[in-house]
Amino acid sequence: MFDRKPPATDVEAEVIEGLSETRKRLPPKFFYDEAGSKLFESITMLPEYYLTRTELEIFERYLEVMASSIGPGVCVVEYGSGSNLKIRKLLEQVRPLAYVPVDISREHLIDSAVDLAADFPELQIYPTCADFTGAFALPAPVAHLPKVGFFPGSSIGNFQPDDAEAFLAQVRETLGVDARLIIGVDLKKSPEILEAAYNDARGITADFNLNLLTHLAAVLGVQFVPARFRHRAIYNSEIGAVQMFLDVVDTHEVEIGEVQIRFESGESVHTENSFKYEPEEFLRLATRAGFRETGRWTDPQDRFAVFLLEVSA
Ligand SMILES: C[S@@+](CC[C@H](N)C(=O)[O-])C[C@H]1O[C@@H](n2cnc3c(N)ncnc32)[C@H](O)[C@@H]1O
Repeated sequence: MFDRKPPATDVEAEVIEGLSETRKRLPPKFFYDEAGSKLFESITMLPEYYLTRTELEIFERYLEVMASSIGPGVCVVEYGSGSNLKIRKLLEQVRPLAYVPVDISREHLIDSAVDLAADFPELQIYPTCADFTGAFALPAPVAHLPKVGFFPGSSIGNFQPDDAEAFLAQVRETLGVDARLIIGVDLKKSPEILEAAYNDARGITADFNLNLLTHLAAVLGVQFVPARFRHRAIYNSEIGAVQMFLDVVDTHEVEIGEVQIRFESGESVHTENSFKYEPEEFLRLATRAGFRETGRWTDPQDRFAVFLLEVSA
């Protein structure tokens, strides 16, 4: 495995920084320890969570067309590889020479790569443990291959639009001038559908949100108590994002390193934004980051879109 993981001291500094702001926040990348990755997998199967199902339908229908416009002999780089569900379909159609799954969740990354290797014995797999919000180097053995980035699941929506643009510009840098990018984007729709997707009846999304605290408590050795917080998700139409929060249920303090953090009953810790886009809105952003559209596929209800982008000259 190629380990580009940031040291734990960075985690502590990031957590203290986020929790010291007037409006407390914790970065969504900390959702994903082993339990978080498994909870996310359960979310993708929930009836309310239309995103995964819809994106998979689009892949089922159009991957053959996508693969024929990509061509042979490439290296696929997946940003936030998680479970192998979507990549399997893509690998079957595109048949790349190499695959670089990039993920911050180390155990899940290794398990998924081992599973995949059993089913694709010819494929060169280079699991890379890295935080893709910063720059990281691709494994040297794939340097000479043309790259196809793969960023499904509307994970792009977790960035603020300006940061999404900066992220795409960095993807372009990492993947090189002949790169293509397949990217899934959740589209704007009615708030009722959006809010139901992030407030499922079984409470799995609540467990996922609260697991952020369990994960950070283990990594930092601090006393976060999930029972002192409650999950909340709402669609903010002004910014076009579903926002997730952990609302503080009772006032308490937690010591992190040298710092004492006070949580007041009634205040919230912001944990995630999931920005939704109109297709043209997303394309303007991708254009500013140095990509142009070469393909676009949607479902019959226009809930979700998959774009094929290439680096513009
Ligand atoms: C929403 S899941 C998507 C999984 C898979 N690509 C799919 O669509 O089914 C997000 C994945 O990205 C990983 N991830 C989240 N933030 C990350 C970051 N900053 N750097 C690297 N991986 C990250 C998580 O560990 C998780 O496996």
